[in-house]
Amino acid sequence: MPTVLITGGHAGIGFECAKQLASRSRCDLVLAGRSVERMEPAAQQLRTSYGVKVTTLKLDTSSLVSVREAAAEFRTLLDSGNVAPLDTLLCNAGGRHNGPTTYSPDGYETTFATNCLGHFLLVELLVDRMADAGRIVFTASGTHDPDTMDGKMVGKAVEPDAIALENDGKDGKKPLSAGVRYSTSKLCTMLYAYELHRRLRRADGSIASIAFDPGSIPETGLLRTMPKPVQWLAKTALMKGLMKRIGVTQGSVSFSGASLAQIAVDPIYGDASGKYLQSNDGALNETRSSKMSYDEQRAAKLWNDSKTLVRLQPSEESTQLR
Ligand SMILES: NC(=O)c1ccc[n+]([C@@H]2O[C@H](COP(=O)([O-])OP(=O)(O)OC[C@H]3O[C@@H](n4cnc5c(N)ncnc54)[C@H](OP(=O)(O)O)[C@@H]3O)[C@@H](O)[C@H]2O)c1
Repeated sequence: MPTVLITGGHAGIGFECAKQLASRSRCDLVLAGRSVERMEPAAQQLRTSYGVKVTTLKLDTSSLVSVREAAAEFRTLLDSGNVAPLDTLLCNAGGRHNGPTTYSPDGYETTFATNCLGHFLLVELLVDRMADAGRIVFTASGTHDPDTMDGKMVGKAVEPDAIALENDGKDGKKPLSAGVRYSTSKLCTMLYAYELHRRLRRADGSIASIAFDPGSIPETGLLRTMPKPVQWLAKTALMKGLMKRIGVTQGSVSFSGASLAQIAVDPIYGDASGKYLQSNDGALNETRSSKMSYDEQRAAKLWNDSKTLVRLQPSEESTQLR
C-alpha cells in the first residue's frame, strides 16, 4: 500500500486530497500538522469512511525544532514498520499572514518560515527515506507570477532573497505587505521545486519533484486572517465571476483536491518531475511558471541560503547523496 504524507492534510485542499486518496487509491495516509486536536477528527473521519490507515504527525512548519522532531518521529515509524515506505510527500501546508509582522521561534518572518523554510528542511530530512520513483509535490500558487492576474491581485512577488525575506520588517523599514510576502513565498516554492528536480537528476535519483497550483479557492482557510467582510465577499458568486473574467486562475476545493491526489499517485504523472501543473476551471494542465522561477542562479542561491538558515548539517544533505 503506498504511503502519502500530507502537510496540512486535515483542512482545505489537503483534506480533500486526503479523502480522494483514501477513497480511490486506498493509500496509507500520514497527516502532518501543528495541532493534534485539529488533525485527529479528520484522521478519524478518513479511517471510518474509507477504512484506510491514517497516522497523525505533529509538525509546525514554522519551527525548525518541530520539523526536526517530526522528521525523526517519521523515521522511527518507518524503521518500526508502523508506516510503509514513503511514496509521496505533499508539501501542502501554508498560510497568508495578515496583521502585524510576526516571527517564527527561530526569528524568521512567519510567512517565509511557514511556507518555505519548514518544507525545505522537511524535504532534506526525508528524501533519502522515500521509495524509488517517489514523488515530492509542492503546493505553490499562481500568485508567484507577477505577470499574471493572480500575482497582480495579491501583490507582485519581489526578489526571492532568503536573507531579506527572513529579516523583513526588522530593519525599521516598511515591511512587505502580507500579499507580497505570500506571493514571494510561492515564488520561492517554485524555485525549490525546480532546483530539487535538477539536484535529484544530477544525482541520478528516481524521485520526482513537481510544483502544483490549485487555483484560487476562497472557501478554504487561507484567507482567515483577512477582515471578515473581505472573506465573505471573496466567496460570493459575483466576486468569483469577476475574478474569472479578469483572468484569475479558478480552483475549487473538490477539483483542486482531486488534482493534487492525482499528481500524488496517478501513473500518468510519473514523468512530471520539474513540471508546473495548474488546476484551472475544471482542468489540470501543465503550464509555464513565471520567468524568474526558471532562473537557476537565483534558485541555487535561495537553496544555499536556506541551508544556512535551517542550519542543515553536511551529513543531512539528502539531495546530495542520491
Ligand atoms: N485557497 C487558495 O486560494 C489557494 C490558492 C493557491 C495556493 N494555495 C495553497 O494551498 C495550500 C493549502 O491551503 P488551503 O487553501 O487549503 O488553506 P487552509 O484551509 O488554510 O489549509 C492550510 C493548511 O496548512 C496548515 N498550516 C498552516 N500553517 C501551518 C504550520 N505552521 N505548520 C503546519 N501546518 C500549517 C493548516 O493547519 P492549521 O489547522 O494548523 O492552521 C491547514 O491544514 C497552501 O499552501 C496555500 O498557500 C491556496
